[in-house]
Amino acid sequence: MEKSAEERGMWGSKLGFILAAAGSAIGLGNIWRFPYVTGENGGAAFVLIYIILVFGIGFPVMIAELSIGRHTRKNPIGAFEKLFPGSPWKFLGVLGVVTGICILSFYGVIAGWVFGYIFKTISGAFNNIETAQQAEIMHNEFTGNPVNSIGLFFIFIFLTSYVIYKGVKGGIEKWAKILMPALLILLILLIIRSVTLPGSSEGLAYYLVPDFSKINFETILKALGQAFFSLSLGMGTMLTYGSYISKKDNIVSSAFYVCLFDTMIAIVAGLIFFPALFALSMSPDQGPALIFHVLPSILNKFPGGQLFGAGLFILISIAALTSTVSLLEVPVAYVVDEKGWTRKKAVLVMGSLSFIIGIPSALSGNAVSFFTMLPVIGTDFLSLMSSVFGDFSLSIGSFFIALFVGWKWGVKNAVNEIEQENIEFKIKSAWRVFIKFICPIAILIIFINLVVNLF
Ligand code: PHE
Repeated sequence: MEKSAEERGMWGSKLGFILAAAGSAIGLGNIWRFPYVTGENGGAAFVLIYIILVFGIGFPVMIAELSIGRHTRKNPIGAFEKLFPGSPWKFLGVLGVVTGICILSFYGVIAGWVFGYIFKTISGAFNNIETAQQAEIMHNEFTGNPVNSIGLFFIFIFLTSYVIYKGVKGGIEKWAKILMPALLILLILLIIRSVTLPGSSEGLAYYLVPDFSKINFETILKALGQAFFSLSLGMGTMLTYGSYISKKDNIVSSAFYVCLFDTMIAIVAGLIFFPALFALSMSPDQGPALIFHVLPSILNKFPGGQLFGAGLFILISIAALTSTVSLLEVPVAYVVDEKGWTRKKAVLVMGSLSFIIGIPSALSGNAVSFFTMLPVIGTDFLSLMSSVFGDFSLSIGSFFIALFVGWKWGVKNAVNEIEQENIEFKIKSAWRVFIKFICPIAILIIFINLVVNLF
């Protein structure tokens, strides 16, 4: 028997949905990934391209995902199966489920480190950290200890599983309402500290004055992958969250706010890290450990840094938790809806799977040298997972979602779904052009160029 929309559960209000979706979108992607990817890809010019891609590609794809979700009231695999039974489109859902498990597997590792830094801050471990090099050594010791890394990763997967197991939405909605404003306030205070450090202005210039000579197709692909990653697109998270939206709510304006809030937090995070990096005379391409190299060194120069730092790491942990919950929700919803598993079994199996797949990532921060520097590939295991699943898989998923809505399910059906209850979709002719042509073609061109460049 199919459950009614009410029985499956719904968001309490439009604001509730926006906050929950923003909770999924805002996370380590904004605070951990955006700064380091920006640092590796040339600074301001990358930021500009990123913003264009968020609103030009991400926003239309988000509208597409949300409308499939609300229309079918299903998880990603069930949704495609419901619209076109027996068609291969359901593999798009399968890709989403696999991607969710694999993103969680490395994301949970970083989240575990952040979680561990709460206690490090409280214990005063940063009090003697004067330079970024000292912070780096401390971080390497910390992640180089396999018991630490795997233990904290386990705790984080456990917390995520617990929230999902307890049945979710009420919880996610409530947390997001308090968390987002608090996080924003702490981040803004940190910006003030960062830009007033001597020598920070060079960092501001790096972050805000574009140098287009640093841009090539690979950086554009990175920006595209980062946009999908940060907006939680391309693997059915937004489709699943969309399945809990009321027909009275406006999908388009909700999607716009989610894109706006998410981008704001990322930009704000960059304003903390780049001025500080240059003030500390560090190069911007620190890779995934960037925030762990920078934060201790500036917290140390902050009045009440110990308490403030603990608060900051707690908030980043919660922001990460509202994202990991949305990652695990996709595979869980799938086996519960389609395979008739109990929620308990689903959470146990999917959570454990993610944990096992994540162990090499947890060991890739100096604990095991093989995973820290993979032969031939030349990066660490975690960065590899982040590229394969965070960039490629989400870009491919988004490409097919655009094709699906633009050409298979049809723009007309999507527009009908969006225009329920007398809501007018004002930009529908523009959206039609974007979802049918611009989004898929742009993603394809970027991909083809990358492959051509590889050879
Ligand atoms: N958007 C999340 C973040 O920025 C990560 C995420 C990706 C969550 C894909 C769900 C799906 O932290």
